[in-house]
Amino acid sequence: MAITESDRATITVTPVSPTLGAEVTGVDLADLDDATWEQVAAAWAEHLVLFFRDQELPPDAHERLGRRIGELHVHPAAPTVDGHPNVMIIHADERSKVVAGNGWHTDVSCDERPPCATILHLPVVPEVGGDTLFISTEAAYEALSQPMKDFLADKVAVHESAHVYRGRYGTEESDSRDGRFPSAIHPVVRTHPVTGRKALYVNRAFTTRIKGLAPNESRAILDLLCDHIEHRPEFQCRFSWTPRAVAMWDNRSTQHYAAWDYYPQTRSGRRVSVVGERPF
Ligand code: SIN
Repeated sequence: MAITESDRATITVTPVSPTLGAEVTGVDLADLDDATWEQVAAAWAEHLVLFFRDQELPPDAHERLGRRIGELHVHPAAPTVDGHPNVMIIHADERSKVVAGNGWHTDVSCDERPPCATILHLPVVPEVGGDTLFISTEAAYEALSQPMKDFLADKVAVHESAHVYRGRYGTEESDSRDGRFPSAIHPVVRTHPVTGRKALYVNRAFTTRIKGLAPNESRAILDLLCDHIEHRPEFQCRFSWTPRAVAMWDNRSTQHYAAWDYYPQTRSGRRVSVVGERPF
């Protein structure tokens, strides 16, 4: 039977937790019509992280999907697919000493305009393990007391990357995207430009200090906020990959953690990120 436009626009969105994350079916990400994309975009705004199984997403189609959201991001230091500077390689095997994302973080928050979105496609995954965990930093913000929200309202924090990227990908600073590892100053609480919801925007990987506080005060507050974000299962969901699955997350209101519990097995794929707005 011929597939009509209205058939193509019917997707199923099944939440994986009450807080964030939903699995989406009825979508071919490599061949999206506008009506289907609008439904995906609406589900993404609501659930912050979407999961899709069994997708064929070669680099061209992966980039096309990213461009639905906006300008493609170039990672400051990570290896990319030949001929596709916007497509980052995510790979771990028996020779790996470190793997990308193996700690709570939001992507490249050291950029002046950090990625708003990341789309990860993993054709090769271990039989068991290699899950990615996600946190809603909106839920984390909401759970703070009002006095703490008031205290943080006008605070800004420094996000740096030299300590993360130096030695990580074998890229010298002089060979990195800008010839220097980026750093930026962002509000500690940011507002989502689509939903207007507020989220905590500090993370253990890149955020090094809160401006205007003494070093010991800044360290204590950052530790308190990162512990608060990371340690409540109620703020989280967890995705168990299957070969060719795709995860698409909102970096403005989430953090993620790539569990490396499958050594020496191989987990391999590609990632495209999209340049976001300057956080406000
Ligand atoms: C990343 O931080 O982009 C990697 C996530 C993953 O491999 O699950």
